Amino acid sequence: MRIVVTGGAGFIGSNFVRSTLAQRPDVQVTVLDALTYAANPANLSGLADAYPGRFRLVEGSITDARLVDELVAGADLVVHFAAESHNDNSLTNPLAFITTNVTGTAVLLEAATTHGAHFHHISTDEVFGDLPLESTEKFTPSTPYNPSSPYSASKAASDHLVRAWVRSKGLDATISNCSNNYGPRQHPEKFIPRQITGLIEGHKPRVYGAGLNVRDWIHVDDHNAAVWTVIDKGETGKTYLIGADGEKTNLEVVTALLGIFGHPDNWFVHVTDRPGHDRRYAIDASSMRALGWRPVYTDFAAGLKATVDWYTQHPQWWESARHDAETRYRDTEKELGGNR
Ligand code: NAD
Ligand code: DAU
Repeated sequence: MRIVVTGGAGFIGSNFVRSTLAQRPDVQVTVLDALTYAANPANLSGLADAYPGRFRLVEGSITDARLVDELVAGADLVVHFAAESHNDNSLTNPLAFITTNVTGTAVLLEAATTHGAHFHHISTDEVFGDLPLESTEKFTPSTPYNPSSPYSASKAASDHLVRAWVRSKGLDATISNCSNNYGPRQHPEKFIPRQITGLIEGHKPRVYGAGLNVRDWIHVDDHNAAVWTVIDKGETGKTYLIGADGEKTNLEVVTALLGIFGHPDNWFVHVTDRPGHDRRYAIDASSMRALGWRPVYTDFAAGLKATVDWYTQHPQWWESARHDAETRYRDTEKELGGNR
């Protein structure tokens, strides 16, 4: 099977490429990645030698219709991870999100339709907006779309494009909407690696607002195993919600990290809240469980400790990315005010 993986040099995509090459000897992978600030070429280093003839990296944008057409022409399957993915950045630079997440997705859909490749679209639970803090309600595939940020609105638009191409242009496609991922190789602009890398450097965690917002954490390897389950067993045109019943407040996550680093529970700072901050995400993953998928990383404390160990052992992977991300947070303070 020949697959094109867009965004394969980023967090989830690179973990997907690594596990796919290790576990599926019949698969040849072409990564198409623009190598934006969010990518780290080290995520894929060594793979061409470790898997001769089964891996290549093409540097380019999913908005480049000629390049996309050429790559998809030789593929059986496209797995589409590429995106601008950080909510905070979408508040200050929304147009980049529309270009990549909306236009780039449409370019890929055209190529997959032309060449008859199966298309798997990686999306997010944020397309549904948020849930009340004090409730047990969860997102389901029939929850109405109600995105809050330019990022989530652009992902919602991309989901609608996939459905339109399935219905009106005969594309063979599946969609999965996953909750918050954690694990190795996540950019240090994001919540968990920002706090881990800060703690390694001796800084206090930075908690937006009161810290009571809830995220439904899933290990990146569980997400990627679920993606293959959908590709193998999912129904064309259908949406699958991926989650591992991992709801935690941000304060609970910070407290767990402080425990790992041996600091008291109150060793953190409250900073200015994110405008439009979604309160709570929670996934009903029964459509995935019906396909036979189960999460393996069911012990969040153990998964978090392993993630801390990975960042502790790979400072060269994150130091300059952390520096750049913190510079962007300082620039956002200048643009939007507050203390981030
Ligand atoms: P990431 O920011 O770590 O990686 C994104 C990758 O896409 C980078 O390698 C970047 O270089 C590449 N990219 C950006 N613009 C591109 C373009 N125009 N052309 C080609 N490549 C481009 O993101 P991530 O956290 O790994 O997320 C991957 C996907 O999963 C995204 O679609 C995101 O919406 C979705 N998702 C993420 C999470 C999460 O918790 N991180 C949860 C659910 C869904
Ligand atoms: O739900 C899936 C989504 O999860 C993905 O679609 C996004 O690509 C991914 O970035 C993530 O979005 P969030 O906005 O939930 O993730 P983030 O890591 O930015 O923030 C997680 C929570 O932590 C959120 O409530 C904001 C808060 N936060 C974040 C940062 C960076 C802090 O309290 N302090 C911080 O420094």
